[in-house]
Amino acid sequence: MKTPDYIHFTDTPAETLQKVLTDLAPDKVAYLVDENTQKHCLPLLGLPEDSLVIAIKSGEKHKTLDTCQHIWEQLTTAGFSRKSLLVNLGGGVIGDMGGFTAATYKRGIRFVNIPTTLLAAVDANIGGKLGIDFMGFKNHIGVFQDPDAVIVSDIFLKTLPARELRSGFAEVIKHGLIYDQKYYEQTSASDFPDLDWNDVIRQSIAIKGAVVAEDPREGGLRKILNFGHTLGHGIETWYLNASKSLLHGEAIAIGMILEAYLSYKTGKLSLQEVNAISDYLTGIYGTNELPPLDEVMKLMGQDKKNVGSEIRFSLLERIGACLYDVTVSAEWIRESYKFYENLK
Ligand SMILES: NC(=O)c1ccc[n+]([C@@H]2O[C@H](COP(=O)([O-])OP(=O)(O)OC[C@H]3O[C@@H](n4cnc5c(N)ncnc54)[C@H](O)[C@@H]3O)[C@@H](O)[C@H]2O)c1
Ligand SMILES: [Zn+2]
Repeated sequence: MKTPDYIHFTDTPAETLQKVLTDLAPDKVAYLVDENTQKHCLPLLGLPEDSLVIAIKSGEKHKTLDTCQHIWEQLTTAGFSRKSLLVNLGGGVIGDMGGFTAATYKRGIRFVNIPTTLLAAVDANIGGKLGIDFMGFKNHIGVFQDPDAVIVSDIFLKTLPARELRSGFAEVIKHGLIYDQKYYEQTSASDFPDLDWNDVIRQSIAIKGAVVAEDPREGGLRKILNFGHTLGHGIETWYLNASKSLLHGEAIAIGMILEAYLSYKTGKLSLQEVNAISDYLTGIYGTNELPPLDEVMKLMGQDKKNVGSEIRFSLLERIGACLYDVTVSAEWIRESYKFYENLK
């Protein structure tokens, strides 16, 4: 598997960033951070005092048009031209929103992502999907565009709260389940969080990179990355709208259990395999309250992956392989809910 060539793995991100900036030769550079990455990650870049830092409030609830406006204003005030560049230093929120503001400012300026969460390193920063939430719907407004560089280092994970690390790990589990049985077996054999994160990040990026390279615009194969995300996104959105706390990966962990069960209903996975997957996931994530199913179904109706009114799923064909565009009955979804509720 070939890793996209704009990705730089490094133990010395400050040096790598300087090399990348020398190559890209922008006329101006700004650094987008939130309060946590400003405190914990920005000092690791060893920047001059007078660097232009745009700081926003952390969290998904700030991944909005209002925050974009604030960023565009800062870029405008600083006299950013089409030769300028934005460095997004943070998790998936900073990467998605910073990329979106860069890709739309003056019809697009260059940007570099430096992921500081596991989720951003293995998933959000790879594959060119940029965007913001709108009217209560996740990633509702956005564009596709690859960053000019992604600088990846596990050094940033040292200050990441354990709950955030665990959240990002859900995507790692997903990568094994949908694409690479050996990787799944290898990661699930170790006790989380005692893993070699450098190695995990490389393997996950290679998997996501390979899938995206084959199908950048999600016409087909890329949809397998949505395993666990159809119901998972609905659940995440419900929690977000209810101002209750559930991280992306925590929602996806629930979604993967529900959708593993749906994979069993389609005759692909055995019930034994579903039980093994759900034992592994609940061992790490516990169980959470499920939102009312009719509300999740309504939210799923807005899913960008839908065609017309039909809701389509990406379901496991076996451990290490995934099918996409599978339609399932509402009855099976109800059953999957019951399966999850009985895990408690
Ligand atoms: N574009 C894509 O393909 C894609 C894929 C998956 C997820 N996403 C998006 O990613 C977002 C979630 O990303 P996330 O989980 O990284 O969330 P996040 O960006 O909100 O970061 C999580 C928290 O960790 C803090 N933080 C970040 N790095 C830190 C560090 N090194 N030390 C201490 N604290 C740190 C942040 O300030 C924040 O409070 C969602 O908006 C989701 O939609 C996008
Ligand atoms: Zn995800």
